[in-house]
Amino acid sequence: MMQITECRILENKRIGPDYFKFKIVAPFIAEIAKPGQFVHLRCSDSSEVLLRRPFSIHRGYRNYVEILYKVVGKGTYLLSKKRKGDVLDMLGPLGNGFEIPSDLRAAILVAGGMGVAPLLMLAHKIKAENHKIKVVVLIGAKTKKELLCTQEFKEAGCAVEISTDDGSKGFRGSVSGLLVQFLRKGEDARSPLPSPEQMIYACGPEEMLKKVSEIARRYNIPAQVSLEEDMPCGIGACFGCTVRTIHGYKLVCKDGPVFDANEIIWE
Ligand SMILES: Cc1cc2nc3c(=O)[nH]c(=O)nc-3n(C[C@H](O)[C@H](O)[C@H](O)COP(=O)(O)OP(=O)(O)OC[C@H]3O[C@@H](n4cnc5c(N)ncnc54)[C@H](O)[C@@H]3O)c2cc1C
Ligand code: FES
Repeated sequence: MMQITECRILENKRIGPDYFKFKIVAPFIAEIAKPGQFVHLRCSDSSEVLLRRPFSIHRGYRNYVEILYKVVGKGTYLLSKKRKGDVLDMLGPLGNGFEIPSDLRAAILVAGGMGVAPLLMLAHKIKAENHKIKVVVLIGAKTKKELLCTQEFKEAGCAVEISTDDGSKGFRGSVSGLLVQFLRKGEDARSPLPSPEQMIYACGPEEMLKKVSEIARRYNIPAQVSLEEDMPCGIGACFGCTVRTIHGYKLVCKDGPVFDANEIIWE
């Protein structure tokens, strides 16, 4: 179930060079949203940016949601200019969200760049379902300055490991490289958990998701990946967000954005 609502902005805070965090009053969405679901925001009332833009639900509280976003173009620039008290036209919650198997014992969350956005809510949800589930979060960014949410994940009870492309913090290289290093450590300790009880959850650029999917398959660990596509309608009406899967073409906005990694036919 989803709604189009006029939602009041409680806060639009700059949290990094091009990064902002919205707090938006949206009790309906906050109450029913699952981690991995998204909202579709109208960025402007004028014809400047006609199409809505999709954003993951970062956190859902009692009567408001948080959205973490990076300014990358016109729509997100216009959003960054919004002020407390302004009203946003928001459609959601949309999409399917991540699945948490009932027998889950360990979760490896892999975030590339803005990929952290839906994973914080997932970490909280996993811990709320069973605080004994071990949650490790691997966060990758270009540089130390662009690392997001490390403290928030720690506060959620997760172990956090970091990679930066330039080596300014943590592992030097990609977050998929860090994932390989992390899984090798598990092998050395001869204590890998039985695969069905582990799950990799990944969100980030397509190239990263492709690599994470290959690694997950190699280590025989099930994986769920959250895909990004342009989404003109967000509700399965325009067929503008198709992805090729082993079951034929699917819609990222309606059948996803979260898919079983083995289902995707990567280009
Ligand atoms: C499920 C999902 C969740 C996302 N979550 C986040 C998040 O939490 N935080 C975050 O920062 N980013 C997130 N993104 C990416 C975010 O939607 C884009 O960064 C944003 O739409 C860029 O808009 P822009 O106008 O600033 O950029 P532009 O660079 O101006 O847009 C890029 C180009 O794509 C086109 N385009 C952009 N959006 C759409 C659309 N919705 N439909 C059709 N065409 C489009 C534009 O016309 C333009 O030509 C998510 C994307 C998806 C699919
Ligand atoms: S965005 Fe229109 S079908 Fe997915």
